Amino acid sequence: MDKKKENISIGFVPTMGALHQGHISLISKSKTDNLLTVCSIFVNPTQFNNPDDFKKYPITIESDIEILEAAGCDILFLPQREEVYPPGFIKTHYELGGLENILEGSYRQGHFQGVCLVVERLLNIIPCDILYLGQKDYQQCMIIEKMTQLRNINCSIKISPTIREKDGLAMSSRNSRLSNSERTAATIIYQALIYMKSNLKNKSLDDLKNNAYQMLEESGFEVDYIDITDQHLGSVENLNSSNTLVGLIAATINSIRLIDNMILTNIDE
Ligand code: PAJ
Repeated sequence: MDKKKENISIGFVPTMGALHQGHISLISKSKTDNLLTVCSIFVNPTQFNNPDDFKKYPITIESDIEILEAAGCDILFLPQREEVYPPGFIKTHYELGGLENILEGSYRQGHFQGVCLVVERLLNIIPCDILYLGQKDYQQCMIIEKMTQLRNINCSIKISPTIREKDGLAMSSRNSRLSNSERTAATIIYQALIYMKSNLKNKSLDDLKNNAYQMLEESGFEVDYIDITDQHLGSVENLNSSNTLVGLIAATINSIRLIDNMILTNIDE
């Protein structure tokens, strides 16, 4: 298809399926901005550092298709593994700098290389004008932005806010693996972020992180990290070091690992 001749703009929403309102918010945004919206569903093996997590990743293709139809998505790309990674496919190594080894990167070896690999490949197959990503995966957004710069990929990136359940838990495909009691406990991640945001003015950086840590542990979570950074994920020495501060949490309950983040200095969130 010659996009220039047809003068149509294409929005692209890459996903791994098990779709929920978070994904649909990206589809809706793309539909508002573009004439054509493409969604891909592909559980990308190269980004799973833990094979068990890959095996247990929820697959709900039939309901995903219904959800996409109801949302008015124009095209679903549902590739087989060989379409994305054909025999003889040569992996690129991306020079992502320090961004790759902090936070998620330090707990998930190779994860962001796998994310870049699949997103670049998908962008080769689906030449889009705008790529839609969720703030839920804050570090992933920054990594993908960097990858598109490194590889001179000509599409802009739009980042949409995190969609949450009523009690604040960030929607995630992994939430379906939580038992009732784990699901109830999981709201503590949001509460810990809100705690940090609400107490920015009257606590120190260390107190905020330590108290949030304690909240999570008391609710049965094992904490990978709780951090407060600047908007580029750079470390801050104190709460006055940057105009924009981001709180980021990764924690596990019964081997289900959840992540979330919040802009702490933005009064709108
Ligand atoms: P997946 O986890 O399916 O997420 C697909 C997109 O939906 C990502 O951009 C993610 O940030 C966004 N998203 C997930 N939960 C959200 C929520 N609660 N609110 C708003 N947006 C949300 O992220 C991946 O897949 C993969 O790493 C992928 C980019 C597809 C590469 O394989």
